[in-house]
Amino acid sequence: MKTEITELLGIEYPVIQGGMAWVAECHLAAAVSNAGGLGLIAAGGAPAEWVREQIRETKKLTDKPFGVNIMLMNPESEKVAKVIVEEGVKVVTTGAGSPEKYMADWKAAGVKVIPVVASVALAKRMERCGADAVVAEGCEAGGHIGELTTMVLVPQVADAVNIPVIAAGGIADGRGMAAAFMLGAKGIQMGTVFAASKESVIHENYKNSILKAKDIDSRVTGRSTGHPIRVLRNDMARKYLELEKSGAPFEELEQLTLGSLRKAVQEGDTKNGSLMAGQIAGMIKEERTCADIISSTVSEACKLMNGVSANE
Ligand SMILES: Cc1cc2nc3c(=O)[nH]c(=O)nc-3n(C[C@H](O)[C@H](O)[C@H](O)COP(=O)(O)O)c2cc1C
Repeated sequence: MKTEITELLGIEYPVIQGGMAWVAECHLAAAVSNAGGLGLIAAGGAPAEWVREQIRETKKLTDKPFGVNIMLMNPESEKVAKVIVEEGVKVVTTGAGSPEKYMADWKAAGVKVIPVVASVALAKRMERCGADAVVAEGCEAGGHIGELTTMVLVPQVADAVNIPVIAAGGIADGRGMAAAFMLGAKGIQMGTVFAASKESVIHENYKNSILKAKDIDSRVTGRSTGHPIRVLRNDMARKYLELEKSGAPFEELEQLTLGSLRKAVQEGDTKNGSLMAGQIAGMIKEERTCADIISSTVSEACKLMNGVSANE
């Protein structure tokens, strides 16, 4: 399946595994890349040396292209930006800020830069500063989100920029992929479905929470603080939303979520952990390999778009 995204990234299918703090490490990234998509290691809030190690481990597990996702508000991001160049990583996706100050170094090193955007204005700014593509992520997605849904964001971004657009948020099968293409996307990024995949190293309690979730089981915390995050409902989300409603100070809210994604991913604490996941969790019913997820998504999308299977 050739699109501007497969050409840009040198991959077989235009399917990117979203960077997911604590979740997207070397095993998941390599599994996705080996299956023909683009795997990403998420730097999240981790030290730059952890990112370096993960890059080196991923290289041992795959000879296909893979990338790194960097959260620019993270104090380590300056160091991670350098590690990316030093280790010869060829693709970087960025969130939570603008990558403008790293652009010259990354470009000089031949790194393809793909910022995640939630608005037309940011997409245009990223194009102006030299981005190779953008991920337009709708608020159906798990984790940090913007205001607009994928349905309205993707076509508006596709109209506004000349670089290829990758759709994210609420996609987990070929119907979603085909829909994204109809909206003007040239590739898709999926997060929640890969977090629940066989190769995902998250605690089985967290994985089971995704597999059991129904369509209406996610909540958005942090709207009042300006940092909305989509999670599955649990004790933590309920407490947070109650505190928010009562006008609790920022510090108190911060305290509640400190280290909460790690608690979910590593300890399997489904009560007090932050179970980040998208609205599409309701459609994800079984743990599948990344290869199965990618091949079924692509062949279903091909059938819907062309009336032929991916292998024909
Ligand atoms: C557990 C989790 C953690 C995430 N962490 C990050 C992150 O560190 N950086 C980032 O850019 N996006 C992050 N995201 C968003 C994903 O990269 C991806 O864009 C999103 O999951 C796509 O929507 P979906 O969940 O509906 O598939 C995260 C998502 C999840 C579910």
